[in-house]
Amino acid sequence: MFISIFDIRHSVFDIKIIMDEKVTDEFNQPDVELDATLRPGQFDDFVGQEKVRERLELAVEAAVGRGDVLDHVLLSGPPGLGKTTLAYILAGSMGVNIKSTSGPVIDKPADLAGLLTSLERGDILFIDEIHRIQKTVEEYLYSAMEDYVLDIMIDQGANARSVRLDLQHFTLIGATTRSGLLSSPLRSRFGLSNRLDYYGVEDLTSIIKRSASILSVEVDDDGAKEIAGRSRGTPRIANNLLRRVRDYAQVKADNRISRDIADKALEMLDIDKHGLDEMDKRILNTIIHKFAGGPVGLSSLSVSVGEEADTIEEVYEPYLIQEGFIKRTSQGRVVTELCYKTFGLQDASREDELPL
Ligand SMILES: Nc1ncnc2c1ncn2[C@@H]1O[C@H](COP(=O)(O)OP(=O)(O)O)[C@@H](O)[C@H]1O
Ligand SMILES: [Mg+2]
Repeated sequence: MFISIFDIRHSVFDIKIIMDEKVTDEFNQPDVELDATLRPGQFDDFVGQEKVRERLELAVEAAVGRGDVLDHVLLSGPPGLGKTTLAYILAGSMGVNIKSTSGPVIDKPADLAGLLTSLERGDILFIDEIHRIQKTVEEYLYSAMEDYVLDIMIDQGANARSVRLDLQHFTLIGATTRSGLLSSPLRSRFGLSNRLDYYGVEDLTSIIKRSASILSVEVDDDGAKEIAGRSRGTPRIANNLLRRVRDYAQVKADNRISRDIADKALEMLDIDKHGLDEMDKRILNTIIHKFAGGPVGLSSLSVSVGEEADTIEEVYEPYLIQEGFIKRTSQGRVVTELCYKTFGLQDASREDELPL
């Protein structure tokens, strides 16, 4: 690789921050402004995910106690569950700077070198969608993460020589929706690896109440719960739905959200009662109608619904399993009794689509 010093300097000033995530539906679109307003700034405001929270808080306390740098952290899980939020909370509680970028944005090793050389001791480099980082860039991360050095070639031809750049001890926080796509050398360099799970209705209800108070709208328990139940286990969706219900409440109900108002507003927006999105429904319909309720192997399912197998496995399936609509068996995926019951189907012999 050839990197001039100019390249390195240049990339320091050329760090693009993008929010580039695979989103599951229109209500899981990151809204930069809304996310920033509602994003919890400290562990105490971060609802749910107790295990992950406890582990991270402990790691911070230990590192701070020793005057040490926080270990590299990998955060994985479907979009909208709090990965970026946690990265910022970690920076805040360590009292360090955080620089944020995204895997696909770092398109040459010089960009990475620029980023890494601009970090001070303890600083955090947050790489979102880290599974999309280029192989040539990824290889430089290995020595950076492990030994805090970068070996780069400068000059070309007869003058070409390798130069070792020493880096400050920094913390890399990687976020990914598709941990299965991470190479094992990269994965193994994270000391702390945490997967976020979908939130239950209770946690989402708390999140909605907290957001409502920030947005100055009144919501009662039942109103918050109604929104929570339709949020697909996802705080970002919960916040986006709350905002839409708020509009409705403002115009029709004196800015107060009750169950009835929430229900009417969400009905008007065609939000699924069970929080399912288009792909969820397609997966259920496919298993029921094309595979007689299952069992069906992941790869056949993937071909039938037109979505990559590991996206199904890491992004869609966990929610359907958590809700008890499908089960993973040794022969493949099967639709559960609960699914048939919930959607008023007797069995797989019915020809019509699920009334989802
Ligand atoms: N545990 C949580 N408690 C409260 N709000 C949360 C939580 N997790 C996520 N949120 C909200 O959801 C939004 C999306 O979270 P974000 O961290 O951007 O998700 P991700 O990076 O995993 O896609 C945040 O702005 C925040 O308002
Ligand atoms: Mg994010």
